[in-house]
Amino acid sequence: METEIVYAEDGEANEAIIKATRLLEAGEVVALPTETVYGLGANALDADAVAKIFAAKDRPSFDPLIIHLGRREQIHEYCDISPELDEVVQKLIQEFWPGPLTMVLPKKDIIPDIVTSGLPTVAVRMSAHPIMQEICKGLGKPIAAPSANKFGRISPTSAGAVLKELDGKIPLIVDGGACNAGLESTIIRVEVGETKPQLHLLRAGPVVKEDLQKIGKVIRPKKLTERARKALLEKQGGRGEQSPEAPGMLESHYAPSTPLYLFDKPGDFIPEEGKSYALLSYRGQEKDGYMELYDWDVVEELSPGKGKLGEASVRLFHVLRMLDECGVDAIIAEPVAETGLGVAINDRLRRASQR
Ligand code: TXA
Ligand code: MG
Repeated sequence: METEIVYAEDGEANEAIIKATRLLEAGEVVALPTETVYGLGANALDADAVAKIFAAKDRPSFDPLIIHLGRREQIHEYCDISPELDEVVQKLIQEFWPGPLTMVLPKKDIIPDIVTSGLPTVAVRMSAHPIMQEICKGLGKPIAAPSANKFGRISPTSAGAVLKELDGKIPLIVDGGACNAGLESTIIRVEVGETKPQLHLLRAGPVVKEDLQKIGKVIRPKKLTERARKALLEKQGGRGEQSPEAPGMLESHYAPSTPLYLFDKPGDFIPEEGKSYALLSYRGQEKDGYMELYDWDVVEELSPGKGKLGEASVRLFHVLRMLDECGVDAIIAEPVAETGLGVAINDRLRRASQR
């Protein structure tokens, strides 16, 4: 199959929107821009179309998908929300939609089981990207879309990155420019709670804990015990940890082909004779203790200069891809500050790293 890229920015979007919508209506998959990362979309109500997403990505069927809406009100067509829960959901929608917040809610039967991996809940969001919004509205149905990368690999934040991942596997990529958040959406499971709404944080992302605390109590899922982790690992044939709270959130993910190591402190790095190393630095400053540690073959900075977490988020997957392509034996990553967006960045680095 030949993969076409169609440009969709600044007044040139119409042709792309029409092409993408026609393909989606015909049960095909299309790569689409969102404000977080590029998604591989299909009509979420068409189980055969959704099956093509899993095939193109080599994605295991136990990893459920997010559905994307064109209008806020559609949430009631696909989610079974009690009036009490709706009060919380509406507050979250008011505050964060359209935008990078995904809510896990009880699903209605109209959503095929393949979308949710058989779970009674569905993950739902409304993207803030104008092209994605237009296409969702035009189709009039939810679009199921995971990140447009091969399973377990680095998420794509540009049309070129999607092409590298899925060339020949999908008919169309809509090029809507570089993604301006650069990290996948924050995922929460929403509960009414006894005194206060309970927001279970399943994946850290651009909507940070401090933002969510305006609406309810943010709860982090419990870490699995070592015994439970081993049992799950066995069940999955060694694919990695999977928390029952966040199915599909595998411990090993977002991985470059080149081994990546994330160290807690600079002194943990012991270079091997004859190997070449790249440094993924936060802000390129000596005082962080990594720049002077070694005569690095390559150095890339997430936020050159002062170290801004927003800039680091936008650049993370792009820089990881560049380092993966530069031919070194290993990438050494420096953690960023564990506050605000830094929580999501460190989460992705941890999942990308070898243990
Ligand atoms: O920013 C994003 O969220 C991007 C863009 C394309 O929208 N999408 C994305 O999808 O990151 P994906 O498939 O790479 O990650 C979706 C994750 C799953 O791996 C799983 O952890 C979680 O969402 N998920 C989906 N449905 C769920 C459910 N019913 N319960 C709990 N977690 C769920
Ligand atoms: Mg993904």
